[in-house]
Amino acid sequence: MNDLSIHAKRDAALRTPTDLGANATTDIGAALTGVLADMFALYLKTKNFHWHMSGPHFRDYHLMLDEQGEQIFATTDALAERVRKVGGTTLRSIGHIGRLQRLPDNDADYVTPQDMLAELADDNRRLTGFLRAAHAVCEEHNDVASTSLIEVWIDDAERRSWFLYETTRQPR
Ligand SMILES: [Fe+2]
Repeated sequence: MNDLSIHAKRDAALRTPTDLGANATTDIGAALTGVLADMFALYLKTKNFHWHMSGPHFRDYHLMLDEQGEQIFATTDALAERVRKVGGTTLRSIGHIGRLQRLPDNDADYVTPQDMLAELADDNRRLTGFLRAAHAVCEEHNDVASTSLIEVWIDDAERRSWFLYETTRQPR
C-alpha cells in the first residue's frame, strides 16, 4: 500500500462526523493540538520544579506547584478530545509534544526557587497568549464548545501567573 492510500485509510477510519467544515477540523485541530503540547510541557516543568524545589519556603512552593500541575494536567484530556470531536487527530507521543511545544523545557541541574517561580510565571503568561490565539481560531468557526472551555483555561492560567508573581515579589 502506498503512502497516499495509508493516509486515506487512516483519515477515513478516524473521521468523526461534525457539522463544522473541513477547514474547521484542520484549523481547530492544529490550534488545540499546539496548546495541548504546551500544556504537557508546562505540566512537566511545573512537576520538575515541584520535585526539585529547595530552601526555606519549600513547603509552600512545593504544594503550590503541585496544585498548579494538577490544574494544568486536568486540561489535557479535554483538549485532546475536543480535537477528536471536531474530526481531527491529536498528539500521539512525547516526541510529538517535543516537535510542537513552544514553551521551552528546563533541564538545568539546579534552579533557584526564585528563578523557578519567575520562569513559570512567564510561561503561564505566554500560555495565556496561546490560548487567546486558539480562542480566535475556534471563534472564527463558531466552535463555541471549545471557546467556552478555553475561557476557563485562560482564567486558570491568569490565576497561576498571579500566584507566581505575588510569591516572587520582594517586600517593600
Ligand atoms: Fe508530589
